Amino acid sequence: MRIGIINGPNLNEIGLREPEIYGHQTFEDAMNLWKASFPKVHLSLFQSNHEGALIDHIQEAKHKCDAFVINAAAYTHTSVAIADALRSCSIPIIEVHLSNIFAREPYRHHSFISPIAEACIVGMGMKGYEMAIRYLLDRS
Ligand code: DQA
Repeated sequence: MRIGIINGPNLNEIGLREPEIYGHQTFEDAMNLWKASFPKVHLSLFQSNHEGALIDHIQEAKHKCDAFVINAAAYTHTSVAIADALRSCSIPIIEVHLSNIFAREPYRHHSFISPIAEACIVGMGMKGYEMAIRYLLDRS
């Protein structure tokens, strides 16, 4: 199974950025753990701070992946374009947020991605990505 993890803006700074909200673990550390935990899964990670780059990646990777795990970060709440790109994918999409977006500012409560996602995981930190991978494995 090929799972494409897609991360939006500022998630390259996780581990350093607002650790009281997002924790201390970096995605590099997490990817090493997940690769060890799920040796049979082909895991890829793409992160960009640019909306268009995320869309280009979704369009290309949808033909190469069996599922996406996406945290579009702030674009979750603003990007019709990313939601449209995801809408044209025929693979399962799991939306993940490190923090519980519903317990935060009201502008974070709406997601353009949730209606397209098969499942949404919020507030579990990095564990949320692991849960998404486990779910996709059990589901297949
Ligand atoms: C986030 C939540 C978003 O509201 C925020 O803009 C992020 C991270 C999360 O993982 O909790 O950058 O997607």
